[in-house]
Amino acid sequence: MPRLKDFIDTTQFTKEEIMHIINLSLVIKKCINNGYYPKIMKNKSLGMIFEQSSTRTRVSFETAMAQMGGHAQYLAPGQIQLGGHETIEDSARVLSRLVDVVMARVNRHKTVADLARLATIPVLNAMSDYNHPTQEIGDMITMIENLPAGKRIEDCKVTFVGDATQVCVSLGFIASKLGMSFVQFGPKGYQIPDDRAEIIKKQCAVSGGSFTVTEDAEEAMRNADFIYTDVWYGLYDDERSHEDCMKIFHPKYQVTDALMKKAAPHAKFMHCLPASRGMEVTDEVLDAPYSVAFDEAGNRLTAMRGLLAYFVAPVKKNKTVAAEAKSELDALLTAD
Ligand code: CP
Repeated sequence: MPRLKDFIDTTQFTKEEIMHIINLSLVIKKCINNGYYPKIMKNKSLGMIFEQSSTRTRVSFETAMAQMGGHAQYLAPGQIQLGGHETIEDSARVLSRLVDVVMARVNRHKTVADLARLATIPVLNAMSDYNHPTQEIGDMITMIENLPAGKRIEDCKVTFVGDATQVCVSLGFIASKLGMSFVQFGPKGYQIPDDRAEIIKKQCAVSGGSFTVTEDAEEAMRNADFIYTDVWYGLYDDERSHEDCMKIFHPKYQVTDALMKKAAPHAKFMHCLPASRGMEVTDEVLDAPYSVAFDEAGNRLTAMRGLLAYFVAPVKKNKTVAAEAKSELDALLTAD
């Protein structure tokens, strides 16, 4: 099977392909942590389209490009014509001629899917209202780096606490792809929608993983190796006030030290960040020795390097044409 051009949704990839991206990320991390910066993005330019603000995604992509010899251009919300005066189709055609790869954080998933369909260069989904696949890769890397003694990733249980955000759905996508036990502990009305639950169940049938949605804290936390949460205020189409959030989720779905104690003794706490301290998670948990949330943020960079290496680095070179072009250029530059 030829490689997919774009990284829009991890459910489009096999487990082996996802593991290949993770392994690439881990090897590049080892190289860079030991002083070898592979210049595999040399002369490459990344266009970074943001319809929303970002810290981790923006900074990690930009740092990854710089570390690997490339360049990134920040295209801030409202700064380019995408979807406004210029159609997405025209933007995709233009960007395909100006940069080597595009990442897009979009308000609507259709925008990044359309960009990928219409562009001739790789398009990487940097979060939509549907999913957050680059976060998924960083999260799996973090879990692999923090595996309980004697366990493989397939043996682990990860419990997501709270609202079924796109990060929760994405965690379900990657956990079920890799064969983990995935639990969402959240109230009715804020649980993973049926269409996404079906995808997770189908992936479990292939991978041997399992999927549970529950309002029972004991069931959710029992023997869990990783506890994960995300904000309660919706990022998309959400009119929820602070008071609404507290009424819906607090105190039952706040990750506290008492809740963590119901999980396995070695359990690690994860959060995609940014966190609303005092809402979905307490300071005590986010700052605890068992919290890996900040290493997880660091692994956004690990993941971006691997993704760029997988989707952008392979280049078909025609050495004969390149040598001819070089001779022509040399002649022109030295001509009187
Ligand atoms: N987790 C995440 O995507 O963070 P940013 O919104 O800061 O990029």
